[in-house]
Parts: sequence; C-alpha cells; structure tokens
Amino acid sequence: MKILVVNGPNLNLLGKRDKSLYGNKSLAQINSILKKEGQSLGAEIVPFQANGEGELIDFLQENDDAHGIIINPGALTHYGLSLRDMLVDTKLPVIEVHLSNIHAREEWRAKSVIAPIAKGQISGFGWRGYVVALQILVATLKGDKWD
Ligand code: DQA
Repeated sequence: MKILVVNGPNLNLLGKRDKSLYGNKSLAQINSILKKEGQSLGAEIVPFQANGEGELIDFLQENDDAHGIIINPGALTHYGLSLRDMLVDTKLPVIEVHLSNIHAREEWRAKSVIAPIAKGQISGFGWRGYVVALQILVATLKGDKWD
C-alpha cells in the first residue's frame, strides 16, 4: 500500500516558522515519524514537499500507482484550484491535514477549496494530525466501514 504525504508551500520551513502555530518539529522529523508508523501499519510512505503548485501536480501525476493521499496544501488550501482538480483526477482517497486550526485564525483561512473533495479534514492538532490521518487512511483502504 503506497501512501503519498504531500506538503505545499513553506512547509519545508517547519521547525523555523511560527512555532506557536506550527510546532517545533521539522518536516523531516514528521516524515520520519510517518515512515515508522507506516511500517507498523504495512504502508509505504512517499513524502514530497514543493513550494509551487505545478510541482505538486507533477508529483501526483507521476505517482499514479499510489493508493491514498495525505496532503497539507499550505496556503494553496485556500485557492489552489488546479491542485484540487488534480486531486480529483487521481480518484484516490484524500485526507487534508493542517497543523494549525484554520477555523480559528483569519477568516480567509477557514475556507478550503480542497475540503469538499477530501474524505475529511484534520486541523489544529500539530504533527499528530498527520499520524492520525495515516491511521484513518490505512484503515479505510483495508476496508474499515466505521460501524
Ligand atoms: C497550514 C494553514 C495554512 O493556512 C497556511 O497557509 C499554511 C499552513 C497549516 O498547516 O496549519 O502554510 O496549512
């Protein structure tokens, strides 16, 4: 089972960006936690970060053998329509993750163009949000019906 963990603009600066919002861990540290969790769940984690929307789209197009996507689109969350179109075109289950609670910040951040096409959104729980997203995605792909 191949899971793409995709991070958008500025998330390469995790650990240096406003720590009160985004936490102390670097993206490399988060990805290494996810790889370990993936191993115990039987999933291969393929992490990718880019600052440009086109690079994110290229990555999704190149990895069309994946089974699911965890994505923190950064600010593209709020206006990244070509990223959204590509996520739809993958036909894969998508879970949207945000480190900060986008509903408790500036008004414009509460609107996500990704959320309507995602299975769900996890927002406001820091790096742990990615771990929970991975657990949920793998359980869903293994056929968990949530009953
Ligand atoms: C973010 C929230 C976005 O509004 C912001 O532009 C980011 C990070 C988060 O993880 O909380 O870059 O996606």
